[in-house]
Amino acid sequence: MAGRLSFANITALAPMVRVGTLPMRLLALDYGADVVYCEELIDMKMVQCHRVENEVLQTVDFVAPDERVMFRTCAREKRKVVFQMGTADPERALSVARLVEKDVAAIDVNMGCPKEYSTKGGMGAALLSDPDKIEAILTKLVGGVSLPVTCKIRILPSLDDTVTLARRIEKTGVAAIAVHGRLKEERPRHPVHCDYIGAVARAVSIPVIANGGSLDLVKCHDDIRAFKEACAASSVMLARAAMWNPSVFRRAGPLPLHDVMTQYLKYALRYDNHAFNSKYCLCQMLRDKVESLLGKRVQAAQNNRELSEAYGLDDVFEETQAELEARRHALRSPEWRRGDVVAMDGDVATMALKFQRRQYPPQLTPKMFLLEWSRRQKTAQPTYHTVQRAQDRAFQSTVTVDRKKYRSSLWEKSKKFAEQASAVVCLRALGIPEGREGEENGGRQQKRKMEDDRDSDEEKRKKRMSDGDRESDKNVEPTLHA
Ligand code: FNR
Repeated sequence: MAGRLSFANITALAPMVRVGTLPMRLLALDYGADVVYCEELIDMKMVQCHRVENEVLQTVDFVAPDERVMFRTCAREKRKVVFQMGTADPERALSVARLVEKDVAAIDVNMGCPKEYSTKGGMGAALLSDPDKIEAILTKLVGGVSLPVTCKIRILPSLDDTVTLARRIEKTGVAAIAVHGRLKEERPRHPVHCDYIGAVARAVSIPVIANGGSLDLVKCHDDIRAFKEACAASSVMLARAAMWNPSVFRRAGPLPLHDVMTQYLKYALRYDNHAFNSKYCLCQMLRDKVESLLGKRVQAAQNNRELSEAYGLDDVFEETQAELEARRHALRSPEWRRGDVVAMDGDVATMALKFQRRQYPPQLTPKMFLLEWSRRQKTAQPTYHTVQRAQDRAFQSTVTVDRKKYRSSLWEKSKKFAEQASAVVCLRALGIPEGREGEENGGRQQKRKMEDDRDSDEEKRKKRMSDGDRESDKNVEPTLHA
C-alpha cells in the first residue's frame, strides 16, 4: 500500500532496551539507517500511558501515570520508527498499537528476548514455544491497525521447525520477519547461524531481516551487504555494531567515535533525554575506553550539564537550555494561547491538555473562572459530564457551556482533574483568562478582581432589591463554589 513502510532491502537499527531511545534513533537515521526500532516497551506499562504533544520539545510523549516518559518520538522519524512491544496478550497488544498508531510507522512484537523478566510473563522468547499465541497476537494486530506489523524471532533448535514457524507467521499477514540467528539458549558471543536465516528467507515470500551479525561479521557498511548475502535475506538489522558506533550505517565509512558521541549528546540535550539514559549510551560507545579520563567523567556525571562539560559542550548546553526556555516562555504567553489547537470531535471542541494544579494559585481553579464567566454572561451554570474507562480507570470530562461542549482529549487520574481540564479547554477555546500564575491578568490579580466584582454585584443587588426589582434577582448565579 502506498505510503506504508517497506521492509524490503533496508538496513535497520535493531531494538535495544535503553539504547534505542530518541537520540540514538535520530543519529542512526542521520548516518543512513532506513528504519529505526525503539527499545522494547512492555504492553502492561504502555496501556497505562497517555499521549501528550510536548509543544516545547516538539515531540509526542507517551507518559506513565507516575509522569515518566515511556516513549518519546518526533515528526522527523514518524515514517521510519518501528514501535516494538513485549506482549503475551492479543487484546492488550492491540490497545497499545492503537495508542501509538498515529505516531509511528510500524508495530513489532518481540519474540526473541530470553531474559527471565520477559519469558516469565509469557513474552519474548517464551512465545517461540506457543505458536498459537503468536498467531493470535499477530492476527489481532494485523486486523486491528492500519500500519504494517512485524515480529522478531530467534531460531529454533531444528531448522525445519524454524521454517514451519516462519511460514505460520507469514500467514498472519505480517509485513516482514526479523530473524536473530541464535537459539534462545545461545549468548551474544556465539556465532550467528546464517544458514537458518537463509532457510527462512527462502521459505517465505515476505522480506526477512537478518540479525545477529554484529560481533564477528559487520564492522562497517560494506560488511552489511556481505552479511545480507550470507543470509540470502532481503534486509539487515544491526544492534551492537550500531550501539558501539551508530555511524556504522554510513556508506562512506564510520566516523571517529568522539564526533559521533558529540552528535549523540547534542540530540540528547535537544530532546531532554534523561541524563542516566544518555550516560548509559555514551558508556556503550566508549566500550574499552570507559576507564579513560573521559570515560570516568562520563560515569561520574549526574546530569546533562556534567555530561556536556565532559565533552566540552558547555556552550551547546547553555544554548539549548536557553532555546527551550524561550519556547516554554512563548507557550505560556497569551499570544500563543490564542493559537491553541482546537480539534472538533463530533460536536465537542477538544484540546490535548492536562490540568496542572501547580500552575494555579491556591484556592483558584479554572472551574471557578468558568463559573464566574458564565455568571457574567448570564448563561446557565456550566455542567460537567464525566466518564471513566475500564483499562486504567482514568477519567475524562465534558463541560457544556452555553449549549456548546468542550473536553480535553487526555485522560486524568481523578474526576476532579478531568473536570478542571475540560474547564481549561473551554476557557482557552473562548480566549478567557483562566487564572494561571504568570498569566497576563491572571492568577491572584484575577481573584482580586472577581472578589471586587462580587462585592459591587452585591451592592447592585441590594439596590435592586430595595428598588423592588425582585424579578432580575433570578439571574444572579450562586457564588463561586467550584
Ligand atoms: C538487545 N536486543 C533486543 N532485542 C529485542 O528484540 N528487543 C530489545 O529491546 C532488545 N534489547 C537489547 C539491548 C541491548 C543492549 C542489546 C545488545 C541487544 C537484541 C538485539 O536486538 C539483537 O537481536 C542482538 O543483539 C543480535 O544482533 P547484533 O547485536 O549481533 O547486531
